[in-house]
Amino acid sequence: MSTNVLLLGSGGREHAIAWKLAQSPDLGALTSAPGNAGTAQYGENLDALDIDNPQAVVEAAASVRADLVVIGPEAPLARGVADALTAEGVPVFGPSMSAAEIEWSKAFAKELMAEAGIATGRAAMFEDFDMAVAFAHSRGGSCVVKADGLAAGKGVVVCDTTDEAIAAIEASMMDRAFGDAGARVLIEERLHGPETSAHAFTDGTTVAHMPFSCDHKPVFDGDEGPNTGGMGVYSPPGWLTDDDASRIEREVTERAVAALAASGREYRGALYPGMMLTSSGPKVIEFNCRLGDPEAEALLPRLTSDLLAICDGVAHGRLAEVPVEWDDDATVGVVMASGGYPGSYETGQPITGVEDVDEDVQVFLAGARLDADGTLQTAGGRVLCVVAKAPTLGEARERAYDNVRRIDFEGAHYRTDIAAPARVASGQGL
Ligand code: AMP
Ligand code: GLY
Repeated sequence: MSTNVLLLGSGGREHAIAWKLAQSPDLGALTSAPGNAGTAQYGENLDALDIDNPQAVVEAAASVRADLVVIGPEAPLARGVADALTAEGVPVFGPSMSAAEIEWSKAFAKELMAEAGIATGRAAMFEDFDMAVAFAHSRGGSCVVKADGLAAGKGVVVCDTTDEAIAAIEASMMDRAFGDAGARVLIEERLHGPETSAHAFTDGTTVAHMPFSCDHKPVFDGDEGPNTGGMGVYSPPGWLTDDDASRIEREVTERAVAALAASGREYRGALYPGMMLTSSGPKVIEFNCRLGDPEAEALLPRLTSDLLAICDGVAHGRLAEVPVEWDDDATVGVVMASGGYPGSYETGQPITGVEDVDEDVQVFLAGARLDADGTLQTAGGRVLCVVAKAPTLGEARERAYDNVRRIDFEGAHYRTDIAAPARVASGQGL
């Protein structure tokens, strides 16, 4: 039996998914849309497909005779691409629009957590600018201002002062920095503690937890500078206690899946709660309806089972029949970004040295394309993620950086403290 797959997305996450799917003996043709230079190693890229357009995706799935569509990013999920495919009888890995609301509406996520008894920061939602500002004043400025809808990872501002909070509320509600996504803002209490990403595969009933991992969001060493999509990752976090890990699995992920199912929003795909380990226990920072990026790049190399069988099991509601196993190794992923990212940056810079990387080290390409002559060049902010695996985090880290140093492009920058010893020991910054 061979399964043709249409994979949606164009990040390092999608290259990692393609790489892992390609290890399955049951994979037929793999088509990616829009894809990147990484996914192109495994099959055709439909680079002109608008993956946020449900009808266009349905037509593309038919034209490549897809037996399964795997949706990487959140935007197509929020637009109902999974629903449109399901309506046509095409199996999908990725939740329906109503189940994905757990990511695309922070208001919905908060209501669900309140009903299901899932621990999260106290928060209030505002549609009125003056009331939001008055509330920020009453908190003395220490709060977190979040756009309600999807804002490509940029809609969250952690504030220390009332001025900062007001500026964040103004940017979201008045200047519409995130479009309609910021018309409503959530003002949340500021939490403290180390962060970890929890991930699970689920078909709405069975939940298969993945190992934990840790992203590094700020652009510069020591967690300085603005937040990015993620500059590096490691797995597992040795500082996370078994007790906290199991509380997150039972009291967050499994409760959320059950609460969604109980409200008729059966969840099929990857569910990823971002967690903060506070002095009063693990609390949810946000829910994501997909695999994290760069978390996927650090997790999938640890998966010893067949990813195609897992995605297929999720899509058909038969995850319970599929093995989902992980090795005990550690992985470290270091992202190399374009000069200027997360602000404006140039693209089209030739990338050298990828072929010099050790055979057992993965270079997952993100904003990278092949030009007409077949030269690899930059095409985005996060360009690639170098991932090394070893029995210990220390060795994985050393090998990741040893290989990063062989790759270069004009303006390239990366953090030098991904999985640094102090961070790995405590989960906190340096
Ligand atoms: P998000 O875009 O929701 O992942 O948030 C980006 C970052 O903002 C998180 O990784 C946290 O470091 C920080 N953050 C979000 N919510 C809170 C909170 N309630 N308290 C403190 N930091 C937060
Ligand atoms: N690495 C953060 C995210 O994917 O949302």
